[in-house]
Amino acid sequence: MTKNQTPPIYTGDIASQGQHIDPEHEYSTENQEITFSSEQHEIWADLFNGVHQPYLLEHLCREFKDGLSLLELDPRHIPTVAYLNDHITPRTSWRIERTVVRYTLADDWYKKFAQRIFLITDYLRTRDQMEFTPEPDMFHDIFGHLPYLTKEFYARIEDKFAPAYLLATQEEKEVIKRLAWYSTEFGLVVEDNRFKVFGAGIISGRAELANTIMEFYRLSRDTVIDYTGNVFEQLNEQFLAHKNDVHRLIDGVNDLHRHGQMSSQDQGWNVVHSLYETLKIDREGYFGGEVILAPFDVETIARIPKTVYAFNPMFFVCESFEQMDELLDSYLKPIALRG
Ligand SMILES: [Fe+2]
Repeated sequence: MTKNQTPPIYTGDIASQGQHIDPEHEYSTENQEITFSSEQHEIWADLFNGVHQPYLLEHLCREFKDGLSLLELDPRHIPTVAYLNDHITPRTSWRIERTVVRYTLADDWYKKFAQRIFLITDYLRTRDQMEFTPEPDMFHDIFGHLPYLTKEFYARIEDKFAPAYLLATQEEKEVIKRLAWYSTEFGLVVEDNRFKVFGAGIISGRAELANTIMEFYRLSRDTVIDYTGNVFEQLNEQFLAHKNDVHRLIDGVNDLHRHGQMSSQDQGWNVVHSLYETLKIDREGYFGGEVILAPFDVETIARIPKTVYAFNPMFFVCESFEQMDELLDSYLKPIALRG
């Protein structure tokens, strides 16, 4: 898409709307900056303050909060690319580049990753999308991801994807996209024996963040998980006891998505709720919330044949950052080593 073209209308399947990076129509190295309108700065400020609340921050992982202080974002103004690079590149050698593409195709995305370049879109959500936007906008890219890129751990995690992706078969590429989606975008991690939000997609999306935090409380309220015991072990036990039904739900969601029945957030929630009825799975206990938490099980993640962009009914939890490192390596390293 060039700057003069009308942006595509979202149909619920961003993956199919992915765009190639066309160097002819991209921001040049010398010209990465945009003049934002005061309305855009105000939207940024409202989004920033919406998340930057003690009762929400307590549910985000430490790695994010440390990175956020290192990145020193101005709550009232969208940062320039130069400002971001000044804070990121000296720490992890990653670089930020602006793109006119609203959703970059994975092949182009990972070619940039191989050069330690993280693309940020020039699109910011509008006022009517404050609660939920299916598209990763500038707030998602900057606020959700970039604090982490000041940190060695995240840079190391992100460094794993491109070498594997660029050597992967088509089938493996699909799994790699899921692994990235359910870790860096929609992953959770256990810290101090509590579930914490890690993924940028949850952090930058009010609806996703609210639903996730509500699920943390519900798991305890409905005595699914006792927070005085080991929370990850209990989640693992619950998951193993219900794995078959989790897989049936995944298959059902994907089937509905393939038939175009999940093309909006509302529609997504409603059809998933009706899936429980169709599949005769009681919405109680482990399945009693708006989202399902499951351990970061590569087999289950790989089973999701198509990332459901309009709606995320399931989030995956790593026991620790070390475990995330190991689990990602278990799939990505053997592929990367082929090179
Ligand atoms: Fe993202």
